[in-house]
Amino acid sequence: MLSDAVAALRCPVCEGRFQLVEDPQRRLVCGSGHVFDAAKQGYFNLLTGKGTVFEADSAEMVGARHRFLDSGHYAALAQRVAGLAAASLQRPGAVVLDAGTGTGHYLHSVLESTPASAIGLDISKFALRRAARLNGDAANLVWDIWRPLPVADDAVDVVLVVFAPRNPPEFARVLRPGGKLIVVTPQQGHLAEIAARTGMLSIEEGKAERLAESLGGYFHADSTYNLDVPLTLTGSELADIAYMGPAGHHIKPEELALLAGEDRAAATTAKFRISLFTVGASAS
Ligand SMILES: C[S@@+](CC[C@H](N)C(=O)[O-])C[C@H]1O[C@@H](n2cnc3c(N)ncnc32)[C@H](O)[C@@H]1O
Ligand SMILES: [Zn+2]
Repeated sequence: MLSDAVAALRCPVCEGRFQLVEDPQRRLVCGSGHVFDAAKQGYFNLLTGKGTVFEADSAEMVGARHRFLDSGHYAALAQRVAGLAAASLQRPGAVVLDAGTGTGHYLHSVLESTPASAIGLDISKFALRRAARLNGDAANLVWDIWRPLPVADDAVDVVLVVFAPRNPPEFARVLRPGGKLIVVTPQQGHLAEIAARTGMLSIEEGKAERLAESLGGYFHADSTYNLDVPLTLTGSELADIAYMGPAGHHIKPEELALLAGEDRAAATTAKFRISLFTVGASAS
């Protein structure tokens, strides 16, 4: 329920708790009278008035991400993530926070596996339009992960981060004692066969170690799963995969058209790493 998710939020201005008001315009109102109206698609822009220097994903990039994820190529990842998250969302009233929720694709799989309440954060309002449509009961918020999160202390059972930025001290603050952080990152060799053609950066060695190091003061590592998904992609899927990630900010329309025009299927392997952490500093 949206109202349960709202109970886990805090006002970004004064840190007070929010109430969800429907009169009939849906809005979040804190005890000090700070008011955030829902956009007509249902998400809330909590960054209003502050702005951000961050270059958010465009509507076209979000469209490419939606088409590609909808094609089912990454379904095995969604299933695995949902299973791992659901295992830590058994408590009645459990809350999951999806940081960099994008189109809400992975959060949707989680919510199909558990009745938990959900918060989705993203800097792109184009992404949140889709997320709000897909996960209508979640609190979908325009927010910058690098800022203090608009979420109360100890309010969340699972933080999920799929290919998105991480803010370890803030994730640790909002998680309940014993709460879990689930991080999906690309492994070395991810989409290697097509990386050069699509302008994507190749994954450097040592990324996994750097992830654990960056979280070390706030989390201890539980377990890690590697998931390899062989793919055969059409030209238009190649174009979507190139456009939906960080490379999408730089790629030129004519390069995309070239990729989309390729008539031979491209074979590659998506290589994911799913890392689970528990909040609390590691012993070492
Ligand atoms: C590669 S996409 C992954 C989206 C989604 N988790 C998925 O896997 O489909 C990265 C997402 O992080 C969001 N993002 C990037 N930087 C952000 C920031 N500083 N604060 C909030 N969201 C951010 C982008 O808008 C984008 O939706
Ligand atoms: Zn307030």
